[in-house]
Amino acid sequence: MTGLKLVEGYMPIQMLGEMGLQALLFIFIFYLLDKKMGIKVNKLLQATLLFVYSILYFRYRIYPPIPFSVRAIYATMTLIGIFMWVSSTEEAWQDFRRPIIAVADATTGAAKMIRTVVIILLPFLVGFMGYNSMKPNVDEPIELRTVHPAPPASTKVHGKTFVLQTAQSPFRVDNDGKYSDKVQNTYIDGNPWDEKAPPYLQYVREGGQIFFQNCHWCHGDNLNGRGMFAFAFNPIPANFTDPGTIAQLQETFVFWRVAKGGLNLPREGFPWASVMPPWEQHLTTDEIWKVILFEYWHTGYYPRTWD
Ligand code: HEC
Repeated sequence: MTGLKLVEGYMPIQMLGEMGLQALLFIFIFYLLDKKMGIKVNKLLQATLLFVYSILYFRYRIYPPIPFSVRAIYATMTLIGIFMWVSSTEEAWQDFRRPIIAVADATTGAAKMIRTVVIILLPFLVGFMGYNSMKPNVDEPIELRTVHPAPPASTKVHGKTFVLQTAQSPFRVDNDGKYSDKVQNTYIDGNPWDEKAPPYLQYVREGGQIFFQNCHWCHGDNLNGRGMFAFAFNPIPANFTDPGTIAQLQETFVFWRVAKGGLNLPREGFPWASVMPPWEQHLTTDEIWKVILFEYWHTGYYPRTWD
């Protein structure tokens, strides 16, 4: 086996466990403050702190980082949970709404001032948000996500710099081990499971093993983008059998995309909601090249060449 190197990442259940425990600890501390020291922290404040904490948790603690769209879902779920908590007893609920009512009903003092400020600021805020979303944009129309954003001139993977114009797959080789972009023509019908298969086909087989351990969940058994998780995502996983994906791309471009995933795509990659994982965190450089070799071999497409 190729010996996949696994970098530690979060499973949803680990996240639930860790965050849940920390949230309980949070609540317990407030409870102790109240019962042992007589310091009552208002429920609204507790809820706000807990919510801010959960947002920071999703943003900074979870690794590898999750896209904004997923974080928004998590935050909404958390908010619902917090609401259930603060409204679980009449006492807690009264405590939660007390500051809100106090400000809304205030006739004197600081509370009244806060209300006046809120009443003045609120229309401005709504107006500003409306203005912001309607304001004509002089930039290029980023709503149209570029499926293949412009690649950088070079990319650094596992400490090694690859210049996209000149880098070559170390496994697209002929029987003498020399790079050849013709090699696939020769072996497209070859059997990678044949023990005496030429090196190229052996690498294809290893790439296939990597694919079915890591990629088929999203990109599908037939590489057609219909993996079992595919439909949960927008944008959907690339369909490699479609001539619009790898068939159009240089192998080094694909290498860059697989290594870096959907994170930190250039500006045209908007809305950066791609769930494509940055595989450099899970695979070695060689494994990335091999899985790409497999994708081309399986679909029968050839990488685009510079000339
Ligand atoms: C969690 C789901 C998921 C997994 C697992 C996954 N991908 Fe992706 N992949 C995506 C999505 C979604 C896109 C399309 C959006 C984008 O371009 O980022 C994509 C895009 C790509 C692209 C870009 C294709 C193009 O036309 O630009 C390549 C190449 C790719 N994936 C290769 C792989 C490889 C190789 C693996 C396994 C090592 C893999 N993917 C595993 C979700 C996934």
